[in-house]
Parts: sequence; structure tokens; C-alpha cells
Amino acid sequence: MTLQKSLPWTKSPLIINAPLQMGGFAGAELSTAVTKAGGLGQIGAVNDMNNLDSQLDKVGQALDHVDGLLPIGVGMLVFITKLEEAIPVLEKHKPAVVWLFAAKELDDYATWAKRLRSALPKSQVWVQVGSVDAALKVAKTVKPDVLCIQGSDAGGHGYEKGAGIISLVPEVSDALAANGHDIPLVAAGGIVDGRGAAAALALGAQGVVMGTRFIAAPETNVHSLYQKALLAANDGGQSTTRSKLFDNLRGPNIWPVAYDGRSIVMESFEDHESGVDIEEIRRKHNEAVKAEDAGFGVDGKGRAAIWAGTAVGIVKKVQPAAEIVEEVRDAARKALEAVNSKL
Ligand SMILES: Cc1cc2nc3c(=O)[nH]c(=O)nc-3n(C[C@H](O)[C@H](O)[C@H](O)COP(=O)(O)O)c2cc1C
Repeated sequence: MTLQKSLPWTKSPLIINAPLQMGGFAGAELSTAVTKAGGLGQIGAVNDMNNLDSQLDKVGQALDHVDGLLPIGVGMLVFITKLEEAIPVLEKHKPAVVWLFAAKELDDYATWAKRLRSALPKSQVWVQVGSVDAALKVAKTVKPDVLCIQGSDAGGHGYEKGAGIISLVPEVSDALAANGHDIPLVAAGGIVDGRGAAAALALGAQGVVMGTRFIAAPETNVHSLYQKALLAANDGGQSTTRSKLFDNLRGPNIWPVAYDGRSIVMESFEDHESGVDIEEIRRKHNEAVKAEDAGFGVDGKGRAAIWAGTAVGIVKKVQPAAEIVEEVRDAARKALEAVNSKL
């Protein structure tokens, strides 16, 4: 069965919003709009299950269930979220997809999947991974319904050691096939338009996950300066960087050791590069985030992290989420047709 058929409200190629959890970016409004446009809308949850419950209530009011399931995904950060606290909320709302990311140990995904499948037998379990090795291990121990292959261009958190999707997706695809696994893949990291989506489909993905692009949607809960900084940034390989520093700004880093994050380069990072002591960087950061601008600044000014991927320079305007879904879906088809006609 193709992925699109197992999510019957969706249109091909499948466009998915990343479950952006930082600051609750992806909530009811964004996920509803993406699903209504024929994509897979997702909500990001951390550890506030009351908030997740109320977001899902809102989605339930806006969308009809499809085959007994709420037609969205819910993203869980496995190293933070408490499984037993999440289960009752998920059981109540029955999302079509539960998306897992950032486990401390890969075996933790199997623990989650087992519990999720007994509580929500009709929901799909998706896992986002960032290496061939992790994809193979998770395929074997979890048998996820879908693997999201996240490349190092991705905004936000991901594997510290990584490769871009152009090499990662085909190698994962080959390795899974060689080991007898038939698991649909979706790709994430650096995809913001139809050209990127078309490339990901050519690499073997059945759908594309976008984070950075959806931050520039009015339905995303994001500070206006964050959005402004994202729209202003160009040349993402230069203006963004991966570092563990970003997770050390509020206090000691709580993320699993394999992870770092990609943010726009800003004053905290410049200080770090010049050898300023972390205590001093933290002091200035924690002071800055109390201000009205929340520490965000355009063109590298500002002290707070602005998570964004390397394709940030292609995102130039705020656009309704439904328009983003439709435009990328349509442009991906056109890009593939254009390539085909030139062969
Ligand atoms: C602001 C932001 C927050 C994110 N939060 C999460 C998260 O909570 N859970 C998760 O699985 N992925 C998260 N991601 C990563 C996305 O799932 C996805 O891999 C990434 O956005 C894809 O790269 P792109 O930003 O270039 O589209 C986040 C990404 C961004 C930019």
C-alpha cells in the first residue's frame, strides 16, 4: 500500500509539516490547515499533556475523523515526554500518526511503539532518524509504518554527525531493501519548495517533511521577529550552523548526546566562537530573552537561537499553510515533468 493510500485524505505527493515543538510552534491551527489542504498536518508536543489535549480538542472540532482516526500526526520527543502521561491523551484523540524523535537510546522507540500499538492499534507509528545505522536498527526493532530520513540540512535538532538527504535517503533505501524491510520513507532537511520535493521523490521518498518553510506560515505560533529573521536570512550554509551551543544557552544541555541543532548564527554563537565563557554567554542570553524581542534579532543580531535549515535563503515570504502545501505539491509535479521532458 502506498503511503498516500494509508492516509486517505491526502494527495500525492504527500506534504507533511514537521511537528515543530520548540515553543509549541506547530499546534492545532497549523496542523488543521495542512491536513485540510490534503497534506499530513502535525502537532508538536513536549511534556504539557493538558496543552496537547486542548490542541487536539481544537483539531477535533475542525476536522472529521477518517476511519475512526483524527487525520493528523502528533510528534513526541521521546527523551522528554513521559510515555504513560502521553498515552491517555493519545487514546482519547486517536491521531492517525504518532511521530517519534530524539530517543536517548534507539531501543526506547521499541518500548514506545509496543505501548502505542496496544493502546492505539489503528494509528501509525513513524520514527525520524538521521543515519543508515539508526534506520536499520529501528526498522528491525520497531517496524515503524514510516521512517522519516532527516538529513543534516534540517533546521532544529538532528544528528550531530550527519549527511544530506541526497546521499542518506538512497543509502537507507538500499540498506532497508537488502535487509528485507519494506518501509515507506519520507525525507526531511533542506526541502522548502517543489524543486526540493521533486528531488526527494527521485531519491526514493514517498513524501516530504518541511519545518523551516512552515515557520513562515501565519498559522505557526512564532514570535514575529523570529519569522522576520528567517525571511531575511540568505545563503543558509553560511548564515546557519549546527552546534550544541544552542542547547547550552538556557542551562546545561539536556539533549541526548548524538544530537545538536541548526540555528541561524547569532551573537551567542559568535561569542562562543571567540572563546567567551559559557557562563557569560548564558547570562547575556537569559537576560536578552526576557525582553519584548525575546532575544531574537535580524541578520545575526540577537542572542536567542533561531532554528532554521540550510534552505532558509529560499523562503522569502509568509504564506498560508494551505497555499504552501498546494504550491509545493504542484511545483514538485511540474519540476518532475520538466526534467522528464528534457531527457
Ligand atoms: C523550529 C524547529 C523545531 C523543530 N522541532 C522538532 C521537534 O520537536 N520534533 C521533531 O521530530 N523534529 C523537530 N524539528 C525537525 C523537523 O522534524 C525536520 O526534521 C526539519 O524541520 C526538516 O528540515 P527543514 O527545517 O530544512 O525543513 C524541528 C525543526 C525546526 C526548524
